[in-house]
Amino acid sequence: MIVLSTGGSWRIMRGACACAVVCALVALCAASGLDEGTRAAAERQLLALLGLPHRPPHTHRPPPPVPRAMRLLYEGSIPAAAANTARSFYHTHTELDHRFPGEHRFRLYFNISGVPTDEVARGAELTFQRAVGTTGNQRLLLYDVVRPGRKGKSEPILRLLDSIPLKPAEGTVNADALGAARRWLKEPKHNHGLLVRVLEEGSGSTDAKFPHVRVRRRATDGDEEWRALQPLLMLYTEDERARAARERGETKLTRNKRAAQRRGHRAHHRRKEAREICQRRPLFVDFADVGWSDWIVAPHGYDAYYCQGDCPFPLADHLNGTNHAIVQTLVNSVNPAAVPKACCVPTQLSSISMLYMDEVNNVVLKNYQDMMVVGCGCR
Ligand SMILES: *[C@@H]1O[C@H](CO)[C@@H](O)[C@H](O)[C@H]1NC(C)=O
Ligand SMILES: *[C@@H]1O[C@H](CO)[C@@H](O)[C@H](O)[C@H]1NC(C)=O
Repeated sequence: MIVLSTGGSWRIMRGACACAVVCALVALCAASGLDEGTRAAAERQLLALLGLPHRPPHTHRPPPPVPRAMRLLYEGSIPAAAANTARSFYHTHTELDHRFPGEHRFRLYFNISGVPTDEVARGAELTFQRAVGTTGNQRLLLYDVVRPGRKGKSEPILRLLDSIPLKPAEGTVNADALGAARRWLKEPKHNHGLLVRVLEEGSGSTDAKFPHVRVRRRATDGDEEWRALQPLLMLYTEDERARAARERGETKLTRNKRAAQRRGHRAHHRRKEAREICQRRPLFVDFADVGWSDWIVAPHGYDAYYCQGDCPFPLADHLNGTNHAIVQTLVNSVNPAAVPKACCVPTQLSSISMLYMDEVNNVVLKNYQDMMVVGCGCR
């Protein structure tokens, strides 16, 4: 069930003043009192809001560990402009791997076929981990394999995506693979992977015997060890809903800062006196209670808040009323039968980020607009 920290019941919330996401969640949470058909409809509506065709299936496999890079993104924000979704991919082993025995030349294949077709790539970054104990300057070349070569018949067609100087140093190395990711999303059948080469800088650019970065697995690498070392592709996309919202010119609101939010929560408890007036009220949505905790990795729940209260005549400035709301309230005060009072609704919303498992058990980070009430007002 939904936890209401202070008074107010969800039923009032569902009144005339609609509020898409929160109401859908509330309907779902209140499903104990609903018949199966209504409950299914509520769940469908909520999934549609989240841009998912259906609920990811229950799996008894344990979820794969969330890559560190993904966790860091979840704490921060998605770097690619306009992107609202981030996914991470590791190389998928194929029978081609044995053709690349060296450490300086390897074909990386990332199966991004699970990315929904309405999503547009806005950024793709390939991260390599440094190998220890190498000296000298090298260069990493990253190619999109546009057409694979055929033995003795044709050379492969390669398109250079990025060229990165490697100096002996610590940390990671990033290469830009956006050109390839865009192509793969458009022509999934022609994803032949990426070719990575590491060369010695200068002196005729020979193959690097001991590359500065880890490109392929060594026989001595354990599973855990390799998981931390292997190249990781981060794909940043924008889905249809986010694109439509952006093109309508909706301002990108500041991302929720959890600490600030908690402070607001506490302050609220001290202000019980003004209860009846339109204001933001606490509402914590717990995903476990909605039955979604098996595929939503983080957060476990979030402060959605809701708006409730009276919009009395005359409308005070802090009630964020529009001119129309002021007029409507005025008419209502003269003749209550003519029109209802203005409604207490969210006037400012902010986004939250969620990490969830998709159909193929991949971890996806998505930024959802308008999930949390920042301010209420009479409209
Ligand atoms: C890619 O992943 C899909 C599932 O998302 C699977 O059906 C397909 O066989 C995979 N392709 C390769 C080449 O591994
Ligand atoms: C009016 O909006 C501002 C900014 O969005 C917000 O801080 C304030 O709390 C809102 N007023 C009410 C009554 O919620």
